[in-house]
Amino acid sequence: MTAGGLRQWRQEAIAQAIEQDLEPIEVDWLLQQLAQVDKLSLRLAPEGESLPLGCSFEHLDQLWQRRRREGLPLQYLVGHAPWRNFELLVGPGVLIPRPETELLIELVQAQVSQQSPTRQTALRQGPWADLGTGSGAIALGLAEVLPEAMIHAVDCSPEALAIAQRNVERYSKAHNLEHRLQCHRGEWFAPISALQGQLQGMVSNPPYIPTADLPSLQREVREHEPALALDGGEDGLDCLRYLVNAGAEFLVSGGFWAVELMAGQAPTVEALLQSHGSYSRTGRTTDLAGIERFVWAYRR
Ligand SMILES: C[S@@+](CC[C@H](N)C(=O)[O-])C[C@H]1O[C@@H](n2cnc3c(N)ncnc32)[C@H](O)[C@@H]1O
Repeated sequence: MTAGGLRQWRQEAIAQAIEQDLEPIEVDWLLQQLAQVDKLSLRLAPEGESLPLGCSFEHLDQLWQRRRREGLPLQYLVGHAPWRNFELLVGPGVLIPRPETELLIELVQAQVSQQSPTRQTALRQGPWADLGTGSGAIALGLAEVLPEAMIHAVDCSPEALAIAQRNVERYSKAHNLEHRLQCHRGEWFAPISALQGQLQGMVSNPPYIPTADLPSLQREVREHEPALALDGGEDGLDCLRYLVNAGAEFLVSGGFWAVELMAGQAPTVEALLQSHGSYSRTGRTTDLAGIERFVWAYRR
């Protein structure tokens, strides 16, 4: 494919994106991720120069047409998504990890480093649990910032867990995960019931969208991401309520509890933690858009 030909394809694809209300930047993302051509080298290459592509031009065009026709998220089309320092495999059946969730890892890191030396040592060793691990993103993020910790990643979806397992394998060597990151299939704490009263930390990005709001989500999410990862019940708080109650049974005294949630839910969840009686030092943390996105607490 010549640079001129590819430039023309890009211009047409951008016009199609605008016409369909898609983000034009998706075209460059696809070019970069799939064809391994960055915008600058495409702009600078002489018209007739033949550009080596990371895939056939036909494949590139086919995926773009599928993106337009079916509304499939680009990350599903290319099969991976960037998240923190990871390039995570994703596919239908697993939630595409979101940029705001990266901040949950920063929150853990900041909280751990503020504890007394004795508590820090305990927290750094774990065990920790990532409940509803999906692609394994949070569990991998924890493994990166807590390099000595034992981490348990749980999900009830066989599709999600299979992808999480593959992602863990991909980073196993780099982060020494073979004996310290275990994936478990099952409902929330059920597969790790032996750890009752022993967890140093538990984090979760559970389904939290109220059922009635699901039809108004963006098409990519509504039609292609798994409802199991999104539907939080009538008021969106079903899983969050469960995690408040069960977290108290599974954390050690001083253990850290943190969840991601949607705009407007933080005050209710913090109040649930405070009225439960088993937690102290609760807090809310905002994301980069200023939304109260995380609620956290310590087991009394
Ligand atoms: C919002 S997604 C989060 C995925 C991933 N942690 C992330 O942040 O990208 C919620 C996850 O919870 C899982 N899940 C839903 N209900 C569950 C249950 N009862 N037990 C275990 N996992 C559950 C879903 O399969 C999904 O992977």
